[in-house]
Formats: sequence, C-alpha cells, structure tokens
Amino acid sequence: MNQILIVEDESVIRRAVKRLLERNDYVVVEAGSVEEARQLPLKNFDLIISDVRLPGAPGTEIIDIATPTPVLIMTSYASIRSAVDAMKLGAIDYIAKPFDHDELLMVVERVIKQDRQLRQQEVLKSEVEKSYPVRGMIGECSAMVDVFRRIDKVAPTDATVLILGESGTGKELVARALHERSHRSQSPFVVFNCAALPEHQVEAELFGQQDERQNGRSGLLAKAQGGTLFMDQVGELSMAAQARLLRVLQGDEYAPRQEGDQNSSDIRIIAATHQDVRKLVQQQSFRSDLYFRLRVVEMALPPLRERGNDIKALAKYLLNKSSKQLNRPALSMSRSALEAIRRYHWPGNVRELANTIERAVILCEGESITPELLAIDHHITSGQHKLENINDNLSLEEYFRHFVLDNQDHMTETELAKKLGISRKALWERRQRFGIPREKKGRKN
Ligand SMILES: Nc1ncnc2c1ncn2[C@@H]1O[C@H](COP(=O)(O)OP(=O)(O)OP(=O)(O)O)[C@@H](O)[C@H]1O
Ligand SMILES: [Mg+2]
Repeated sequence: MNQILIVEDESVIRRAVKRLLERNDYVVVEAGSVEEARQLPLKNFDLIISDVRLPGAPGTEIIDIATPTPVLIMTSYASIRSAVDAMKLGAIDYIAKPFDHDELLMVVERVIKQDRQLRQQEVLKSEVEKSYPVRGMIGECSAMVDVFRRIDKVAPTDATVLILGESGTGKELVARALHERSHRSQSPFVVFNCAALPEHQVEAELFGQQDERQNGRSGLLAKAQGGTLFMDQVGELSMAAQARLLRVLQGDEYAPRQEGDQNSSDIRIIAATHQDVRKLVQQQSFRSDLYFRLRVVEMALPPLRERGNDIKALAKYLLNKSSKQLNRPALSMSRSALEAIRRYHWPGNVRELANTIERAVILCEGESITPELLAIDHHITSGQHKLENINDNLSLEEYFRHFVLDNQDHMTETELAKKLGISRKALWERRQRFGIPREKKGRKN
C-alpha cells in the first residue's frame, strides 16, 4: 500500500484529503507544517502532498529535504505563480485548489506511477552505465547512441575521422575511444594541437627540428608511428600551415623528408575542431581539399543542451566522480539543483558541467548540492517554455470561468473567493474582465 504524507495547516482540508485517500487504500500521515514534517522519515513515503502557504517555512522547502520522495504541491488558484516556482524547484507536479475528489485521486495515482518509473529507469541506467559503449562516456540520447555506433564501426578501420562539435562536447574522448578500439591501441596516441601554431612550425612539429633529426630525435609523426595522430583544433590552422599539412598527409613530394625519416604511411589521422568547418571552407579560410582529405568519416557531437535526460545522468555521474576525487562522502544532487542544471544552456557543454559540479562539491558544506552552489545563470534558458506550458495546460481563464459558473448558484461571493484563494475584490475584477458578472437575481451574499 502506498504511503502518503499530507502537509497542510488547515485541518479541515487535511482531514478531507486524508479521508478521501484512505477510502482509496492509501496509508496517510498528516503534518501541519514543514517543521512537523521534518520529524518524520520523509524518505519512506511514496508521495508527499504539501500546501505552499504554511505557518513557518513554505511547503516548497520539503522538496529538497524529502529527496528522493516526490512532492505534489497544492496551491490556490490565486497563487498559480507559486506552482510555477514549485515546479522549478523540482516538485513532481502541482494541483490547484479547489480540486474535486476525482481530480486529486487521478493526479496522485499518476505521479506515484511516474515516480516509480523514473526510479526504475535510474536503476537501469546505473546498471547500463557500467556497460556504456565507451568507458567513462555517458550518453543515451539518440544522437549519442549514434555516435557510439559510429565509433564501433569506424574504430577498427584506418579511415581518417573528422570529429565536430562545440567546445567541451567530448571530441577528445571520442578520438581516444577510436584509438583504444583499434588494432593500434598498443601503439601511441599522439596529440598535435594545431591551435596558435605558427605556420613555419608545422613541419618542425611533425618532423622535428633539423638538428633534432640528426640527433635521432624527431617530431610527432615519428612518435605516432604505428599509432594514431590526433590533430586537435584543426580549424585554427593558418592557410599556409594547412598547405603544409596537406602535403604531409598526401605523403609525397615532401621536401625535408630524408632517408631514414619516418613517413606518415602507418599513422591513423583523427582530427577535431569546434569550428564550423563548412563555413570556413565557404569563407575560404579552410582549404576544401584538406577538408575532404580529413572528413573521410565525419562525426558530430551534439551540444549538451540537446541531450535530454543525458544531462541529469551526466550530472550525477560527474558528482560521484568529483566527490571521489575530492575525498568527499557521497553527496547528492537536490531536485532543485537538477532542475537548474536541466534548464541551463551549457555553452561550455560537458566540460562546463564538470567544472561547475567540481566547484559545487568543493563549496558544499552539507549533504546535497543546492542550486546556489552551482551558481549557474538560468535566465537564458528554456525555463520560459515551462512557464508557458503550465499556463497553456491550465488555461486559467477557463478554469476560473467554469468554477464560477458551476458554483455561483450555491455559493456566496465570499465563499467563491475563499475557495479560489483570492480576495472578493479580485473576484469582482476578474468577473468584469472575463465578462461573467454576478447576476443580480443570484443568491444574496
Ligand atoms: N559523454 C561524456 N561523458 C562523460 N564525460 C564527458 C563526456 N563528454 C565529455 N566529457 C568530459 O568533458 C570534458 C571535455 O571533453 P573533451 O576534452 O573531450 O571536449 P572537446 O570536445 O575536446 O572540447 P574542446 O573543443 O574545447 O577541445 C572532459 O573532461 C571529458 O572527459
Ligand atoms: Mg578538445
């Protein structure tokens, strides 16, 4: 049997809800405030139903305290904004007062089921995590599954791969995975960072300085023999450096090559850039022949903000990782922090998320990460959509109109206003605005 905690200071409502739920086979416990609720083993409940306006702390405070128990927020029609806020803080849903019995039962049944499914998915997820296709690379959204599939397919070949994606999306991780899953895995993986490399140093970097060669030391190509050369930030190369690189890749008519020099014949090339190379090609700041030479296979990593639930999985994974690295006892992520993470747009992608979480772990003095510790700006995010959705779904005007028309014959204006949780003056104003003035012949107040 499901156990539900009701946090509500008005005993009449609390009792009524309790009776209703008990009649429907729920086990119900009551509390009159957040303080009272705190004394109870909150994690043992299947659901907490809480009013927002309570004596002392607002009901929304329970959301974090009770994690992972889901919290359904009750709010009056008048304070629908607080429902929006509650959802942002991680409430599983809200219900506007006054509600009828069937409505409440339906919502309760639905959110308990929804929460159970979510938890099952999480268990599954943590099992799956151990077997993610690329070790340490979290991703289950379709774009990432696609990436993993491509890695599997392309890794064993010697095909040149061009990895695209915004900064911090995991391009280097993919490059290393390609290497580790190839027959070259026992040979070196050498990184050639093309950023800010003066063109005249491309040759020196790849082939070594003249005197080094004579001393038997040489450049990156020699180091990468039999292995993989990862050309990172390839979009930053100057035109002249690109020309030299292309000659190297084509492996012929390369002047400085002398007998005994290693050539690039047994090196697998993987390149990456966060730049929009196609645009660079159009603008003629990237050679199209080099582009075609590199993009035998192209892989695009999606920005973090487009990875759906991966964001939450990543947040939890990175929190675990940081806690371990910093020798902190296992910290948890509050629901509101997860919500903030989900809504932020992450311009720096996974790297930014990892840094943000690491900083929060360092600053955290309690047991769970709060949104304040994350200090991410969520104004520029999709939070707005949520607000719009809530308003759309609810259609406040519809709701108001129905409620008033259905009840005005057996309720006074004072009763109506009270039920709606608004003042009589506000009720009067809305009646005017929505064109449903009180009819004179109606019951006297
Ligand atoms: N899917 C993922 N799962 C777990 N960790 C990830 C994932 N993607 C990236 N990371 C981590 O995020 C950080 C940034 O990744 P990486 O260095 O591969 O990004 P990048 O695309 O090469 O960025 P840049 O364009 O700035 O070079 C690394 O610490 C990496 O381990
Ligand atoms: Mg990188």
